[in-house]
Amino acid sequence: MQNHVLDARNRPLRDLRISVTDKCNFRCQYCMPADIFGPDYPFLPQHKLLSFEEITRLTKIFTSLGVEKIRITGGEPLMRKDLPELIAMIRQVDGVRDIAMTTNGSLLAKHAHALKAAGLDRVTVSLDSLDRERFGNMNGRGYEVETIIQGIDAAAAAGLSVKINMVVQRGVNDQDVLPMAIFFREKGYTLRFIEFMDVGNSNGWKLDQVVPSQEIVELIHAHMPLEPIDPNYFGEVASRYRYVGTTQEIGLISSVTQAFCSTCTRARLSAEGKLYNCLFASVGEDLRAPMREGKSDEEIREQIVDIWQKRDDRYSEIRLSNTPDLPPRSKVEMSHIGG
Ligand code: GTP
Ligand code: 5AD
Ligand code: SF4
Ligand code: SF4
Repeated sequence: MQNHVLDARNRPLRDLRISVTDKCNFRCQYCMPADIFGPDYPFLPQHKLLSFEEITRLTKIFTSLGVEKIRITGGEPLMRKDLPELIAMIRQVDGVRDIAMTTNGSLLAKHAHALKAAGLDRVTVSLDSLDRERFGNMNGRGYEVETIIQGIDAAAAAGLSVKINMVVQRGVNDQDVLPMAIFFREKGYTLRFIEFMDVGNSNGWKLDQVVPSQEIVELIHAHMPLEPIDPNYFGEVASRYRYVGTTQEIGLISSVTQAFCSTCTRARLSAEGKLYNCLFASVGEDLRAPMREGKSDEEIREQIVDIWQKRDDRYSEIRLSNTPDLPPRSKVEMSHIGG
């Protein structure tokens, strides 16, 4: 049995990000703009979603190839019914070291306890502003900041590790960087700032809307001194900084200004069972059909090995060196593979 598999750029397969639904109760402008993801948008019907058994089966195959970290994503993963059951099934899989979930936090207060009891280790909650009006506009549905904070606190109280993700967009929420830093420093949660990316085909991305991480570090440092700290693990996406004299830290995810493709160990599985080699991939390879056609674990494992060994993706690096001349291409939607 093959234990570790390397891609065409010598990158091992370590993380599997599993989208469990393409639906979301938010309509963030940068991800699922309401004018495109309207009432008639063709979301996946139930029979096209991988079942929990199918997801668990694939997880076992992936761990046999070296995957140790699982991240549950969406859309909004808590829109998928009975999610704690899936967590409990994945927890049983040999080789799974870490199970995290990315969520918008709106349903977290209700589910945090059950998720922890099922074996979830960590949550990353997206929150882009503390300003009531701006947050309501950004999430496209008028959700309140307070609801998300309650979700975050419920997750921590249930014993889950918590991080906060903030996508920063110039002219939209850049004025919230400092208030967010101050608030989460006080609360004791790690806040990560994400550079606005050109994911999907519908978010109208422009380079001048990206606030470079360096600018954010300088802004915060001028108010609350920061010092860089080492990565937690090989290929960590966020660069870490600590507030001087404390153990409290922040992270910067700089996929636009400092691409990190050379250490990218992440495979992404869509809710309908397609495997994507990159967040910006145009196509994914279907793993659902072979499972439903009765292929053996060994046959599916070979298919995955073949996909990974051919993997040459490094979209962010190419964009970095060539933004104005990038040929237009169709990319998978963020809501299909969850970031
Ligand atoms: P941990 O370190 O395990 O906590 O997670 P992480 O740093 O991988 O963080 P998370 O999964 O929350 O990712 C945060 C954000 O970084 C995502 O929502 C994406 O916006 C971005 N991101 C994560 N992985 C990639 C990647 O492979 N490529 C690019 N371009 N962006 C990524
Ligand atoms: N650029 C950067 N981050 C994004 N996310 C969603 N869309 C984008 C984008 N265009 C983030 C969300 C969440 C995670 C799923 O990805 O805010 O933290
Ligand atoms: Fe939903 Fe997250 Fe996309 Fe916002 S970023 S629309 S919360 S999936
Ligand atoms: Fe990985 Fe693609 Fe992101 Fe580069 S752009 S880090 S290859 S997912």
